[in-house]
Amino acid sequence: MRPELPAESGDSLDWPVIEGTLWLAAPDGEDCRAAVEQAADLLRKGKLVAFPTETVYGLGANALDASAVARIFAAKDRPADNPLIVHLADAEQLETLAENIPEEAWRLAGRFWPGPLTLVLESRKIVPAQVTGGLDSVALRVPAHPLALALLRQAGLPVAAPSANVSGRPSPTTAAHVLEDLAGRIEAVLDGGPCAVGVESTVLDIRGGRPVILRPGGVTAEEISAFLGKECQVVSSLETCGEVPASPGLKYTHYAPKAPLYLVQGRPEAVLSRLEVMRDEFLKRGLSVGLLLSTESAGKLGLGHMEILGLKDDAATLAANLYGALRRFDQLGIDVILAEGYAEQGIGVALMNRLRKAAGPRLIEVE
Ligand code: TXA
Ligand code: MG
Repeated sequence: MRPELPAESGDSLDWPVIEGTLWLAAPDGEDCRAAVEQAADLLRKGKLVAFPTETVYGLGANALDASAVARIFAAKDRPADNPLIVHLADAEQLETLAENIPEEAWRLAGRFWPGPLTLVLESRKIVPAQVTGGLDSVALRVPAHPLALALLRQAGLPVAAPSANVSGRPSPTTAAHVLEDLAGRIEAVLDGGPCAVGVESTVLDIRGGRPVILRPGGVTAEEISAFLGKECQVVSSLETCGEVPASPGLKYTHYAPKAPLYLVQGRPEAVLSRLEVMRDEFLKRGLSVGLLLSTESAGKLGLGHMEILGLKDDAATLAANLYGALRRFDQLGIDVILAEGYAEQGIGVALMNRLRKAAGPRLIEVE
């Protein structure tokens, strides 16, 4: 279902409109302030505004307005039981939405906020069930992007925001990606250029004194463990707590390009020769092949459309380039994507988590 956008009043006529969605370009200076004010004004009126964070673009609505939040789910075609992250301007606001906040949560907030860490805490009743997916917890974070912070301060609201993509598609790391998925479904996008981290925040459940990462992301398990001085577990994407997945988002396929993606892991030479054999086989069948490679491997595999993510030991760059590359394969109408695996250290854990989710069952281990 494609929700109709309500007619806008005349005050927004100065901005370019793409299929009914205002494109609020926010360069530095006076224009930036005007763009943020316009975006904040829309949020206060219960409208949907996509905005940049340091991880990916979020699709924001007033977190305390149940009907605005419901429109996020409609715009994204998102399952209603998958809860949203609420974005705050500063850590002091934690207490307005969460209760029984453990000491460790305050310490983590002090160390990692603003930044790509989401804390799952006990929810206060004020948070609508649409936001929490009916759980008794709420996920909160203070994003480290100047425009996101300016917007949150200007709006004076907690802002619920999932990634600003249609459900199941790779998260958007530019305003163009947002418009590709959501033009005509949301009131505005605040354009702050490409996102620096490029994969979503780490979702950490800190209740009960046992830190558990429900989704690996921009802040690593190593950093959290070192800071808290205790082990921080990472829940694998398939693990569940009984019948209910620890994080409802874990049960859905995510981050997937339209073409099937094969992820080949193992010794580098073996990976390269397997990729070569597979590529030739698919080409022989008349399929177009996209290769998702490191700089090192790209030099060794000639044929096929290539997306180069970066050097193997630079996981931050590999991660930052991932979603844009997957979207370009989609735009080119590539039939099949062949990708190599990377070391699971630091943000490499988040990178491999997303690649595995994109691959689904198409995981190949070579010796
Ligand atoms: O970096 C990010 O986290 C981005 C930016 C926009 O902040 N947001 C984002 O939101 O990735 P979304 O909705 O695409 O992913 C939120 C994840 C989902 O896997 C969801 O299930 C989980 O967080 N989540 C939200 N609330 C939760 C809760 N109360 N308990 C457990 N998991 C929760
Ligand atoms: Mg998402």
